[in-house]
This record gives sequence, structure tokens and C-alpha cells, in this order.
Amino acid sequence: MATMESLIGLVNRIQRACTALGDYGGGDNAFSSLWEALPTVAVVGGQSSGKSSVLESIVGRDFLPRGSGIVTRRPLVLQLHMTEQGSQDYAEFLHLPKRKFSDFALVRKEIQDETDRVTGRTKQISPVPIHLSIYSPNVVNLTLVDLPGLTKVAVEGQPETIVEDIENMVRAYVEKPNCVILAISPANQDIATSDAIKLAREVDPTGERTFGVLTKLDLMDKGTNALDVLEGRSYRLQLPWVGIVNRSQADINKNVDMIIARRKEREYFATSPDYGHLASKMGSEYLAKLLSKHLESVIRARIPSITSLINKSIDELESEMDHLGRPIAVDAGAQLYTILELCRAFDRIFKEHLDGGRPGGDR
Ligand code: GDP
Ligand code: NA
Ligand code: MG
Repeated sequence: MATMESLIGLVNRIQRACTALGDYGGGDNAFSSLWEALPTVAVVGGQSSGKSSVLESIVGRDFLPRGSGIVTRRPLVLQLHMTEQGSQDYAEFLHLPKRKFSDFALVRKEIQDETDRVTGRTKQISPVPIHLSIYSPNVVNLTLVDLPGLTKVAVEGQPETIVEDIENMVRAYVEKPNCVILAISPANQDIATSDAIKLAREVDPTGERTFGVLTKLDLMDKGTNALDVLEGRSYRLQLPWVGIVNRSQADINKNVDMIIARRKEREYFATSPDYGHLASKMGSEYLAKLLSKHLESVIRARIPSITSLINKSIDELESEMDHLGRPIAVDAGAQLYTILELCRAFDRIFKEHLDGGRPGGDR
């Protein structure tokens, strides 16, 4: 277990180093393949379905802009890095490499400001992602992507193409086979009209990498419940459906914090006449656990191919370093060197712990 966690951690750091390298990783080389070999998790759903709220609960920190209307206007690629027990939480943006944020309210503000820097303070969107890393002993190593919500019509101040633009932007993330989809649908709308399910079904027709997430259970009409959806009778997926109660807008306005929100959510399920029997399989904390277990099994199954990609990267990097001699661009050279070191560490741990005659070990 500890070994898997350290391998996943290394893979996470390799992805981050590849991202920092920018264009270098953009071409068709071993690094871009490395990126795509590793699972990421993306949220998909209609506007205000609760995507940002769900991501925040998975992370267990308050730091994302949320609210009614189009709040998330650029993709946010969020890497979680598990650090040693006892260390302080902090966050770092790729566009502000020298600044460590320990106040997460400032992280939220920087996401808003950095969104506005590219799109203006408008209702426009941009496909240019914001890259954020969070370092904490209380997270699992994971890459999550927050995305703008799917819409049906352009509103005042938006170009006519916005509906398509958003859909294409979202599709670019979720169509990759390494993407685990959190398909977010609000329980107070008919599941048959869910934009999340529609797009998820299109890119993952067998439903093997889609979790159905049903938010706003607390907002359903009195006398109705979502058991048909949660028990898989309305729309069947290979992975389970999870019901969620996020903070309401009133809670957000009152600054209700994460701890209290989670406690209220647990109480909601534990005392619900409709969902009491499902209580242990509902809620944000359960979703986070389910997700990390799923990712671990995905990575475990992919280790042979990740290992061979890493070996290919080591070869490419070594010849690149030879060729560069003394790196021309110091940053790029240092970054290549970091990637090389991380790849070597991965290979070493893999050989020491996992490659001993396992059928999966492919060398
Ligand atoms: P996004 O646009 O999909 O990212 O959705 P947000 O997370 O920004 O949430 C949109 C609005 O819905 C906010 O006002 C939230 O407070 C509210 N909201 C989200 N999930 C729930 C929920 O489970 N219950 C209630 N009552 N409100 C929710
Ligand atoms: Na919103
Ligand atoms: Mg959002």
C-alpha cells in the first residue's frame, strides 16, 4: 500500500514537472504519453449543478469559487500532493511559481483574478487552464479538473458559439480514455435531461469510467426521492451512483465551513427516511474514498505500461541531456533533470517492490 502511494506520488510529480516544462511536453514524445497514461478526474455537468462544490468536498478544503451563474470560466487543473504527517497545507499556482499560499481564501481570490486576467470580468470563457497544486498530509495524490458548466443558450454578454465552445472544451478532457468522469446531475431535475449523463454516455458508452453523482438531494420536491437513480434503476453505470448534499447558497453566504458542512451531510443521510439504508454509501467523504480506491486499481492495472513509458522517458531524457551538454535554457534543463530523477526513482521503487516475479511485471 505504501509502495503504491509512493508510486502514485511520483507519477503526480512527474506530471507536474512535465506541465512546468510547458511546450516541451506538448509534442508527441514520451512525456506527453506519460501524461495521458495517468488517470485524471474531471467533473462534468450543467451550470450550477454543484461541480465546484463536489470537488471542494473531495479535497476537504474551501478554495474554489462557487455560486449561481457561470462562475467557473476556465479549466482548473488541480494536483493534490500528499505530504508528510504534521506538515502545513499550502497551495501553489504554476503561473506564480515563487509564491506559497497558506491562506486558502487567497487561493480562491487568485483563481478569480487569474480567470479575469484572461477573460476580462465578463461571462466569457477560455480554454486556457489554470494549474494549481495543493500540498497537504490530508489529501491523496490525485489530479482533478474543474470545468465550466454545460449550457443550453448564450446569455447577454456571451457569444452565440458559447454553448458549443463549452461542450468542446469539456469534451477535450473527458474523451481521453485516462479520464475518470464525475458526471454531476442535480436531483431536483429529471435525470433524463441531464447534460452530464448525455456527454458521459457519448464519450464512455460502456460506463466503465463514469461515476454518477447526484447533488441537491435536499432540494427535491417534498414527497419525491431519488432512489431509482441512486439504486441504478434509472440509468445504469458500471460504477456506483453517489448522492450528495453540498452547501446551499445560503450556507455559502454565511461562510459555513467544510467540517460543519460534512457533519450536516452525514446527518442528512443518517436521519433520512428515504436514504437511511444507503447512508454508508452516500456523501462527499464516501465519494472521495471510492474515487481513490478506483484510481489505485486503475494505476495498479496500468503499472506495466507506465513503467515501460517511464523507461522510454529515461532513455529519451538521457540522450537529451547528453545532447544539451550544458543546458541552454537553464530552467528547461533543470526541469528535464527533475523529470529524469523522478522517473529513475519510480523505476527503482517498482523494481524493488513490485517487479519480483509478478505476472504484471513486463520485463
Ligand atoms: P457549478 O456551477 O456546477 O460549479 O456549481 P457550484 O458548486 O458553483 O454550485 C452552484 C450553486 O448551487 C451554489 O449556490 C451552491 O451553493 C448550490 N448547491 C450546489 N450543490 C448543492 C446541494 O447539494 N444542495 C444545495 N441546497 N445547494 C447546492
Ligand atoms: Na455555478
Ligand atoms: Mg463551477
